[in-house]
Amino acid sequence: MPDLRTSYMGLQLKNPIIIGSSTLTDTPEKIKALEDNGAAAVVLKSLFEEEVRNVSDSSQCCNYHPEAYYYDMSDAGMLYGISEYLELIKEAKKIVDIPIIASICCENAEWWSTYPKKLEKAGADAIELNLNLLSLDANEDPVQNYLKTIEIIDTVKKNISIPFSVKISPYCCSIPYLVNMFKTNGASGVVMFSRLFRVGINLETIECEPADYYSSPNETYKVLRWINIVSEQLDVELCGNTGIHSSKEVLQHLLAGASAVQMVSSIYKNGPEIIKQTIEEIEQYMFERQFNNLKEMKGFLRSDEKDFDLMYFNSLTHDRFQLADGMELGS
Ligand SMILES: Cc1cc2nc3c(=O)[nH]c(=O)nc-3n(C[C@H](O)[C@H](O)[C@H](O)COP(=O)(O)O)c2cc1C
Repeated sequence: MPDLRTSYMGLQLKNPIIIGSSTLTDTPEKIKALEDNGAAAVVLKSLFEEEVRNVSDSSQCCNYHPEAYYYDMSDAGMLYGISEYLELIKEAKKIVDIPIIASICCENAEWWSTYPKKLEKAGADAIELNLNLLSLDANEDPVQNYLKTIEIIDTVKKNISIPFSVKISPYCCSIPYLVNMFKTNGASGVVMFSRLFRVGINLETIECEPADYYSSPNETYKVLRWINIVSEQLDVELCGNTGIHSSKEVLQHLLAGASAVQMVSSIYKNGPEIIKQTIEEIEQYMFERQFNNLKEMKGFLRSDEKDFDLMYFNSLTHDRFQLADGMELGS
């Protein structure tokens, strides 16, 4: 059978499937079930600074970090204090062998120096930094925003010896430059991308309401494009995230150059058993196409023989527009 081992953030994983940050990983028992079904690693639910501070006013929370607000809503009261979070890491480490990646989202540099250290001490194998790079403020200088991000990364790097990755939003500008900047400043991996919760407006109550918690596989194509563009230029371990629901999307990400992927919505919808099925289908695909290991397959799309490069992506986009132009309404 083909060898599915891969390296992500310098961690040696038995296969490329990581379960992303969510309530899927909020108890040691759930993590064990994910491991039993084949998950190679898990990312814990994010520890949001405002949760630790016990900010109970949800409107303030929403202004402060909109994602935290919607994650809280979706998690129905699942709020961590730091001590429960550290306990979760310690207990999970006792019963599973797969790497536990803690996830943290803070605003103040001071918090970035204290919390990663505590997570490392509790036994986390790595940390995913859920960075809020999106400014909501018309007066905020984007350059200052990015410099603040580098300061955060620098602070984290100085305070821990385990690897860390950065989870970024698809709405950042100059994504390849940004990823390069993170790598140069010490990030061992980059997660592309976080998925902003979609918010609608309830026309009866005229209040905001979540539109859809879960992604669809179609959402992965924008990620795939950036995985290919970035992996073509930079030697960095990338993790695809958003819309990865089955072996089809996992394989696409690996061929485009990802080192690993994260799945969330698909596990909520199909249960942890989908991991086993996905792995079997990846093995089957690799076997049929004579890929012996993941190294051979990773980034195969951009190898010379395939003559597939950024230009192809661009022409593909152009062709798609032409195709769409020719389509009948309602087809
Ligand atoms: C209920 C729920 C809770 C989530 N909580 C977090 C979180 O705390 N931190 C985080 O970085 N992402 C969180 N996410 C986002 C996921 O980690 C992931 O980035 C997103 O769902 C896209 O992946 P998918 O298409 O496989 O669902 C959450 C997603 C869901 C559905």
